[in-house]
Amino acid sequence: MTISAQQQAVEEDLVERVLASFESCENPRLKLVMKSLTVHLHDFIRDVRLTEEEWNYAIDFLTKVGHITDDKRQEFVLLSDTLGASMQTIAVNNEAYEDATEATVFGPFFVDDAPLVQNGDDIAFGAVGQPAWVEGTVKDTEGNPIPNARIEVWECDEDGLYDVQYADERSAGRAHLYSDENGEYHFWGLTPVPYPIPHDGPVGQMLQAVGRSPVRCAHLHFMVTAPEKRTLVTHIFVEGDPQLEIGDSVFGVKDSLIKKFDEQPAGTATPDGRDVGDQTWARTRFDIVLAPENV
Ligand code: BEZ
Ligand code: FE
Repeated sequence: MTISAQQQAVEEDLVERVLASFESCENPRLKLVMKSLTVHLHDFIRDVRLTEEEWNYAIDFLTKVGHITDDKRQEFVLLSDTLGASMQTIAVNNEAYEDATEATVFGPFFVDDAPLVQNGDDIAFGAVGQPAWVEGTVKDTEGNPIPNARIEVWECDEDGLYDVQYADERSAGRAHLYSDENGEYHFWGLTPVPYPIPHDGPVGQMLQAVGRSPVRCAHLHFMVTAPEKRTLVTHIFVEGDPQLEIGDSVFGVKDSLIKKFDEQPAGTATPDGRDVGDQTWARTRFDIVLAPENV
């Protein structure tokens, strides 16, 4: 489509006037962000020649995103995640540093005050699924073990649901523990399964309209903190998960985070002698490297 010089001048004049309206802003960061947002937003509207009907549809969509959001359901986070905005913000703020473990999306299912467990304990707390022995170390980028790092872990059950998605007040599939004096940790969890993000709201409608799946690749969430280290929010993914080929609905997969969950035949002795009954179990290893703070 060709836009006449006169029409272009009208559109550019508006952009200039909006930009000028921020000139008196005393907060330099706010000024920068608002001016850049103006440039990109106007570019977008002009680029797609947005119709008034589409603009009203977008406002109605965002209104619905707001209405479905409450203290349990965060549709704005889902929107940010499915547009890749969450992963882009993570990329910008967690630049690769030596061999530090890569970060990925936080998601909406973290809960403060998950139970404290000891190394070797089971974080399932009744959540159903294949038991998985998870072990590893927490080290700095010089290879020194980090004792007493706080490790938060959370995951869904084999039906693809987090505890907070059930109507009762259960706490299951989540806990926190600390690395030991050698920087080592181990616990029992569940072999992760792929699951759909909540898709019964406007974000689900958007995914359906564009022909995208809401399913996330199977993963186990970690958040690891230690003094003077960059907080690491990440997951491990399951090697061989067919969803890895199809893709992750929130763009969270990084190759370095795909780990083998070695399935053990029923009856195989467990590392700590736990009796898992007549079922298979899996084991995996995730060695964590924390970057220094402020890099
Ligand atoms: C999650 O992994 O828990 C998650 C991440 C993004 C959106 C929804 C769920
Ligand atoms: Fe998750």
